[in-house]
This record gives sequence, structure tokens and C-alpha cells, in this order.
Amino acid sequence: MNSILLLFTLLAAAPQAWQDASVNQINRLPMTATLQTGYPVLSLDGLWKFRWYDSPEGRDLQFYGTGVDDAAWDTMPVPGMWELNGYGDPLYVNSRYPWSNHFQNNPPYVPLERNHVGQYRRSFTLDPSWKGRRIVLNIGSATSCVRVWVNGKEVGYSEDSKLAACFDISRYVTYGDKTNLIALEIFRWCDGSYLEDQDFWRFSGLARETFLVAQPRKRLDNLHIVAGMDGSYRITPFLEGVKAVRFLMSGPGLAEQEVSLDGKIDRPALWSAETPNLYHLKAVWTDERGEEQYAELDFGFRESRIAGGQLLVNGKPVLIKGVNRHEMHPTAGYVVSHEDMEKDVRLMKSLNINTVRTCHYPNDPYWYTLCDRYGLYVIDEADIESHGMGYEEKSLSKNPAFLQAHKERVSRMAQRDVNHPSIIIWSLGNESGYGPNFDACYDWLKAWDTTRPVQYEQAKKGYATDIFCPMYHDYDDCERYAQSHPEKPLIQCEYAHAMGNSMGGFKEYWDLIRKYPSYQGGCIWDFEDQAIRWPSAKGDGTDHLWIFGGDMNDFDPSDNAFNCNGIVAPDRSLHPHAYEVRYQYQNLWMSLNDDLSVKIYNENFFIGTERYRLEWELLSNGIPVRSGAMDCPDIAPQGFGTVDLGLKAKDIAAIGGELLLNLRALLKVCDGILPAGSQVALEQLCLRSEAYHPTPVQLRGLKVEVGYDEATGALSSYRIGGKELLKAPLMPCFGRAVTENDLGAKLQQKMGIWLWPTFQLLAFEHQDGCAVAQWRVGDFAEVTMTSELLSDGTLRVKQEMKTLKENLPEMFRFGVEFAMPGDWSDLEFYGAGPQESYCDRKSSAKTGLYRQRVEDQYHWGYARPQESGTHVDLRFLRLRDASGLGIELYSPTMFGASALPLSRRELDLSLTGGGRKDHGDQRHSISLIGKACIGQRSFGGTYVNVDLMQLGLGCVTSWRSIPRPEYRIPAGNYSFEFFIKPLL
Ligand code: GAL
Repeated sequence: MNSILLLFTLLAAAPQAWQDASVNQINRLPMTATLQTGYPVLSLDGLWKFRWYDSPEGRDLQFYGTGVDDAAWDTMPVPGMWELNGYGDPLYVNSRYPWSNHFQNNPPYVPLERNHVGQYRRSFTLDPSWKGRRIVLNIGSATSCVRVWVNGKEVGYSEDSKLAACFDISRYVTYGDKTNLIALEIFRWCDGSYLEDQDFWRFSGLARETFLVAQPRKRLDNLHIVAGMDGSYRITPFLEGVKAVRFLMSGPGLAEQEVSLDGKIDRPALWSAETPNLYHLKAVWTDERGEEQYAELDFGFRESRIAGGQLLVNGKPVLIKGVNRHEMHPTAGYVVSHEDMEKDVRLMKSLNINTVRTCHYPNDPYWYTLCDRYGLYVIDEADIESHGMGYEEKSLSKNPAFLQAHKERVSRMAQRDVNHPSIIIWSLGNESGYGPNFDACYDWLKAWDTTRPVQYEQAKKGYATDIFCPMYHDYDDCERYAQSHPEKPLIQCEYAHAMGNSMGGFKEYWDLIRKYPSYQGGCIWDFEDQAIRWPSAKGDGTDHLWIFGGDMNDFDPSDNAFNCNGIVAPDRSLHPHAYEVRYQYQNLWMSLNDDLSVKIYNENFFIGTERYRLEWELLSNGIPVRSGAMDCPDIAPQGFGTVDLGLKAKDIAAIGGELLLNLRALLKVCDGILPAGSQVALEQLCLRSEAYHPTPVQLRGLKVEVGYDEATGALSSYRIGGKELLKAPLMPCFGRAVTENDLGAKLQQKMGIWLWPTFQLLAFEHQDGCAVAQWRVGDFAEVTMTSELLSDGTLRVKQEMKTLKENLPEMFRFGVEFAMPGDWSDLEFYGAGPQESYCDRKSSAKTGLYRQRVEDQYHWGYARPQESGTHVDLRFLRLRDASGLGIELYSPTMFGASALPLSRRELDLSLTGGGRKDHGDQRHSISLIGKACIGQRSFGGTYVNVDLMQLGLGCVTSWRSIPRPEYRIPAGNYSFEFFIKPLL
């Protein structure tokens, strides 16, 4: 099959641009920098006539003719992806090529089979005033390549889906009433697709704006500006038929004035992510009609360079609090509107993110405008990933036939984006091996732009990178590198893989970054889950699913939910771990002085703290007893300051209980895209810790009774005043519904004995309110559970385990599980919260008294079912029904617990293997929503786990890493005591 196809492909392809690595464009205009002009524009967005073919064979080769009747054709929105508009299935695959299930890589050839083709037509008229101008067609983004005809004449061709293709169509068009016809042909795959093997949805079509612009013949065609932190600047204009251009500059403290090409302004307000000060440059000239024309842009005075083994922005070793961001919308795919981009910038700023890597291709031009305006550092990445070719001899980085394509992709990105102050680093691409093609790109870029460092992950510590930017280095690797007095700073291009319930151990990365000057941060993988919202009519409690790879058909290769690694969900709602990011990325750090004043460290590099207001609250056993608010004193960047909240040791001594001080820093007034009142930092300081003392039970004549199942030895009944609170018996529990990181590390196999072991009853005694059950767990441990009903109705439970074998695998948890009827849905706890927390992901969770609902305990935003809803550092956790009847769980030491609307069995992907590759485990969290009986809790259950400890989550990778040793549970002999107290 493959060889027949291959032969076909070879025969059919020879002379054609879409299978010729040396032809990446025909007649495309040279790339210019993004400029604003007053030229008239005609948008071609909207519905186009559309015809789709399964393969290039058999397509109508004359479809672009003026006489073709397209009345019966379908329509396609522009911008719009075919697969999200009824043509072809969405396909998600990580590093393999999308054709990998039916075609063997053979660059530059791509398969004919399933190489879908879209033919587009639409008409337009041009205002007569456009006559005599240069009419330029701008196609913002065409995947994978586009061929263009106007009025039946071939205009040109372009590859590289993520940069605009512009063509001069002046000689093909007519003006006035006569309509013009534009026709486009787009192939799903071309030789360029070999360089676009990024780990994301593989959509086809037009993704960004398409428009016509009427440029004057005499014009400033292009413009570069370099502006340094000393106020000097150099303007390089590229003129077409114009001699005299005036340049006007304005900006903070600089009234608009005419400037020469080289100059210097006094004490410029520098651009940084913290101080996005922009200046404005306007070029003005007179065109061939004697009309005044202009081209303008915003720019910034700033510097980005490597010195002394550090990345310096404006001379300061800034910290890169970064994320990777794909351009992805939950229903429109690659089509991301300006409002959506603004939303992403706002969200990033609100999470204290200061850097974005445009993984793995240049973004829509508007993205950079926003980053300039609101302050985000950008690592701008060229559209090159040839991952599927491997990194060895077949790597396209070593294939001379692809040198030109590499260079075009890198140089066009730089030529377009060169003027943006937000771009502090260029990136040559992603995961394409390392060979001479990248050295050539590096050399070109360094010579062409001397003002920015260049990075490329695959160059490792080699030539073509100024920054050591590995992906997924673990703590030790990072520390070792940082200790080696390196010449190149360490900024991970990807780290902290945020897949599913993840980001455990994120704090420890930042402890290292804050310790070592040459370790300056990194970009989290990644910003948003890339699942797509898809209608579902299964009647399982949801009208939609969040689909991922493999949900559409069995033919396409897929990597399942591996594109759901975000700190936010596809709809941009926050995942619980987003709070950990927000906390670790914050810029104010507070600690307590001996005199109870608060010491503040301003981690910002350029701004003081006068813009913040502090709000504080003193909690006694979780109840606010004092509060206050004040302006933050002005603390210099990187400096320390002190605030006196007026708390005196003497007054404090009079307040009982555990005393915790919560502090929040908020914006006094709106700051860029963030409104006034936005929280920028959060801290909790402990003034006095105290063990929890339960209040005595008032039984008020009600009887508490317990019952045991003699056959299993389990506590099977706990009744208060005759009302049954148990739905499933209380039993030891050592497993958890595996997380994505667990699956990636194959813990369901390596530690599988603890997940669903057999419990063989060895002995059971029940006497005078005291029961002792002893079980053999599999053939590797013995557990004894002693439970005793105290006179006030409290049940004391003690679980002790002895392992029977050496070298047993580590455990997921040591605790118990049981279920209550769903009526018990009112949850109250005193412990780390409000969001779920784990032993290695709790720095952002602050101890408090929280009241929540059981149905909200499962984080429905996780693409696939998994562990969720745990709260650690608990002093107590209470579950009540609507009448207030219920139980309180407490323990002599702090413990963890969860109360979920779903059972562990329903959530555990280990039971079905959890596969991630083709035909992987396609289960979706959201399709369990019906089982949670959200509106009808009494039909459901409340599934409770109580833990002495639970394995951490980890975050180094989601394919092999395990949590740090201090967050793991070696098999051994453990004992856990806790109490179930009746609440009446
Ligand atoms: C990296 C890659 C990303 C993504 C990530 C895993 O190797 O650059 O695109 O695949 O791993 O989620």
C-alpha cells in the first residue's frame, strides 16, 4: 500500500512547488515590518465559495476560471479551519507527522491520500480611487500552502503557514463596477509541512485576516528602528520612489518633534515588561498624487543582551516568569480574535506571567502589539519543527535541500517583527535536531540583528544558541548547570509540564531560580489546554465534550489528551495549579519581623511598590478577628521595606487559637490591562500555630450506632439518630485515581499493587464498641484497623500496616476510603485552600476555614478523569446534609482528605490502561458529570478519602518523572489515627 502510494506521489509530483523543497514561494513580496498606515483596506474576510477534495487527484484544475459556475458550491468562513467547519476530522498528534499511519516520510514528498484540498473563490470590486496604486493581497495565514489566481490569472504561491503571504495583484485587477474574482487553492500538506510538525492540532485553511490594501506607488516601503537604553536610536527607511520623508517622534516626556535618522533623546522612559513605555514614530511623505501619506509604529528604548552569564534587560538580570502559548481557540482552532488575544494577555498578567514564548511559530501581528503595549517579554519562534524526521542523519536541519526553507522562515519572522520592543529573544524553532541549517540561520540572524540574543533548544550548549534553553531539565540538572559558572544563562524553553493535575514541585524550581544568578527562569509547558469544544448528544449530563486526539476516527494517528497541558482550560478558566503559578511568579514577598511588622521584598527590577495597596486580615482558627488596609510604602526595585500593621505582641497574646495573617497586595489604580483592585501578591504568615482541639459533642439524646460487616470486617454502618451515613464501607486505601503524570511515569504498573489490592480478612473481633479487623493486603502487607466508639458517639479509628516483603514499590497514599449518601454534600474544612492542594503543590493554598460543595470538589476542567479534590494540612473536615447533620473528621496530626461526587473507581484511568497513543483511553472528565448528580445529590454519593499522606503530583515531565523524594511514600510500616465525630 505504502509503496504504491509512494510511487504515485513521485510520479505526480515532480515539477510542482508543493513538493519541491527549493520552491517556497512564487512571486511573493519580500517581508516587511509591521507598520500602521492610512492606506485604504478592503477586508476579504467573510464567507467564500468553497469546494473540498479528499485528495489532489481528481480536483478541478480549472476551478479558478472566470467562467466557472460556483453557485452550487458550499461556503467556508475566512478565517476558518476546514476541520471545524465540516470538512475532514480534527487531527491531533505530537511528534509524528500527521500522515504517519499511511505514508512513509520521504521529503519533500507528501502523500496524495487524504491530502485534502480546499478551493476558494470570491468576488470583490475596487473603488476607482484605488487605480494607479499598488494593490497588495495579504493572506495572513494559510495552512499549509496557498496558490493564488486573480481574474483567472495565476498570481503566485506561498508556504510557511504562520507568516503572511503578500502578493502584488495590481496588474490583474479592474476598478469600478466590474467585479474581480480571487481564487485560492490550499493543500492540507506540502513539502513545507515537513517543517511544521509541531505538537498541536493539525488544522487546514485560512487562520488570520485576508485583505487587500492600496499602497501608493511612492511610499516608505519598510522601516527598521533600533533604540537603545541610552536613548540613542537609528531609523532605517526603505523608500520606493520617495526622496523626502519626515520622521516625527513622540513619547513619554517627548512632545512630537521631527527627528533625523540617527539621534539620541534625553533620559528615555525605558521599555520593559514592567514598564511598557512606548514611543511613537511617524514617517510622513507626499505620494505620486501629491497626497500626504504616513506610516507609523510604536517602539521602545530598551536593551536585551547576554553579559556575565546572564540575560540582561536594560542591564538587569530579569527573571523569566514564562509560559508557552499556542494560538488556539476552543471552537475556532487557529483562529484567534483580537478580543481573545487581549483576554490571554490579561490572564497572563493577572497570573504574574511576564514572558511568552510563541510556541512554535510566529503569532498574529496583533499579539506583539499587545505584548509591547501591556508588557510581556516575547521569545519569538520561527515556524520550524521537523520532529517526525528524528534528530539523527535524516533530520532536516542536516538536509541541504531544506536550508533555504529554514532561512526563509527565520529571516521573514525577523523582518516582520524586528521593531517590537517586547521581543527580547529570537528562537530558531523547535525540536528539529541540530545541523548546519540552524548554524546558517543563527549566523544570518546574529549578523542581521545585533540587538537580541538568539536561542535554539536543540543546539544545547553548542554554537547556535546564546542561551542554554533546555526543555524539562530536572532540579539536579538545573542546579548542576547553575553551579558551573556558565557563560550562557539557563532559561528553560519548556519546563513544569502542566498536564492534568500537575505542577507539584513548581516551588522547588523557583527556589533554585531565586538562588542561582545564572538560572533565570523558564517557560511553563504550556498556557492553555488545547481540547476542542464539540457537541455531544449522548445524554450523559453534558451537551458537549472537550475533545482531544483520537476522538474522531481510528485512522488518523493521535496522541490522545497530550495536547491538554495548560495552566488554564481551553475556555481559559483557571486550573487549580494556575494559582500555584500565580503565587510563585509574584513579585512581592512578605515575611514577619520579630516585632510583628511585615518585611516586604520587591522582586520587580524596574518598578517600585507605590502602586500597590495592602489588605490584611488576622485569623484566629480561621475566623477573621482583625483587618486593615494601607498603601504599600514605596520600596525600590529589588529592595526591602517594612510595614507596620499595628499588631502588638501584647494585643495578640489576648487572642486565642491559631493565628494566621493573610496579606494581599492589590493595584491601587488600573495598570495597563489589569483593572484597579487586581491582586498582585498573596501571603500568609503564621503568628501562632496551635493543635486543633475538637469541641465536645452534644448528643442531645440521639443515639450513635455503628455496624460491621462480619464477612469483610469493614465498618459498614454509622448511624446518628437512626440515619445512615455510610453508603460504602470504610476500608484501607493505598491507591488513587492515577493522574496524567502517574500514567506518564507508568506508576499504574510500577506501583500497581497498591491501586486495587485484594483484602483478605484474617481476623475480626467486635466487642464492647471496639472492633479489630485484620487483613492481608495482596500477599505483601498486613493491615489492622481498630475502631472504637467513644461515649460521645465519636469513632476513633487507628490503621496500622506492616509490610511483609522487602523492596516493595512506593505507595500512592496511606489512608482510608468510604462513601456517604449524596445528601452529605456540604463541605467545611480548616486547612490549605480554597483550591485543591497536595503535599508538593500547596505554596499558594492558604490555611483557612472554607465552606464548599461536594459537587465542586472534582475539577471538571481536567480533560481526562483523574485524582482531584484533595485538601492537605487539614485540622478538620466536616460533611453535613442540608439539616446540618453530619460528621467531622480530625486527627492528632494534620492530614489530607477529599470528598468527591465520583468514586475513585469511576475516575481511575489505570483500570482501562490510560493509553495515550492511537486508540488511547478516550475517556473525558466532563462525561462523568451526569454521575455526579449535581442537581439531585441525594441520588449520588459522597466519596471520601482520608489520608495520613498522599504521593505528590510532580511536574518535571508527564512522561517519566516522579515527584521529588520528599513527596513520595516508600512502602513501610505506617500507623494513622483519626476520628469521626458526629455533628448534630
Ligand atoms: C516538547 C515540545 C512541545 C510539547 C511538549 C510536551 O517536547 O516542544 O511542543 O510537545 O514537549 O507536551
